[in-house]
Amino acid sequence: MLNNTSFQVRAAEERDADNLAALSIQVWLHTYAWHGIDSKISRYVLAEYTSENMARKIANPNGQILLVEKGDHLLGYAALLLDSPCPTMPDLNNELASLYIQTRFAGQGLGGQLLAASAAVFLQRSGNSKYWLTVNEKNQRARDFYQKHGFCEIGDDWFEMEGERFLNKILLA
Ligand SMILES: CC(C)(COP(=O)(O)OP(=O)(O)OC[C@H]1O[C@@H](n2cnc3c(N)ncnc32)[C@H](O)[C@@H]1OP(=O)(O)O)[C@@H](O)C(=O)NCCC(=O)NCCS
Repeated sequence: MLNNTSFQVRAAEERDADNLAALSIQVWLHTYAWHGIDSKISRYVLAEYTSENMARKIANPNGQILLVEKGDHLLGYAALLLDSPCPTMPDLNNELASLYIQTRFAGQGLGGQLLAASAAVFLQRSGNSKYWLTVNEKNQRARDFYQKHGFCEIGDDWFEMEGERFLNKILLA
């Protein structure tokens, strides 16, 4: 879909499920395991980021996974949902559910490329390029990134993991 000399953005296919699962675990742990790894965290990532779950997301007719790669190496992905009402704007059903760039490739513009490609897919599939997402309040790097791209805050949401709650900010593109 998009070409930036050596990086390419394309829709994920069934064969990408293993790589998407492995990348998700790496990025999730790097981003959120602030105090190291404990059993709750391990249970969460190993249950959530399986090849089977990624294959289900790739096959979801109300979703789309866009990935960015270099040659045949996965560098990051965006997971889009077209049927996910925003908690504070229920008429808005376009959600960017995940945006993960492999840690050693962060800061090279790949996240920005995936945002642009996601807006194009939302527009094409729903007639509306607007979408919402959530970001952990402590994830300052991502919050800076979204601010740079013009997102605005439209409320709070909670991420729950085995009874523990973490505050997320809801952002609108
Ligand atoms: C947040 C994230 C998606 C941004 O994608 P990216 O490809 O790294 O970002 P880009 O290169 O397009 O944009 C760079 C901006 O992002 C921020 N940033 C991203 N990576 C950074 C890094 N390694 N060091 C410093 N700033 C970084 C800065 O605000 C930077 O702005 P600048 O270029 O003016 O300095 C990516 O770093 C990521 O996957 N992080 C971990 C997972 C995550 O937090 N996802 C979002 C959850 S909602």
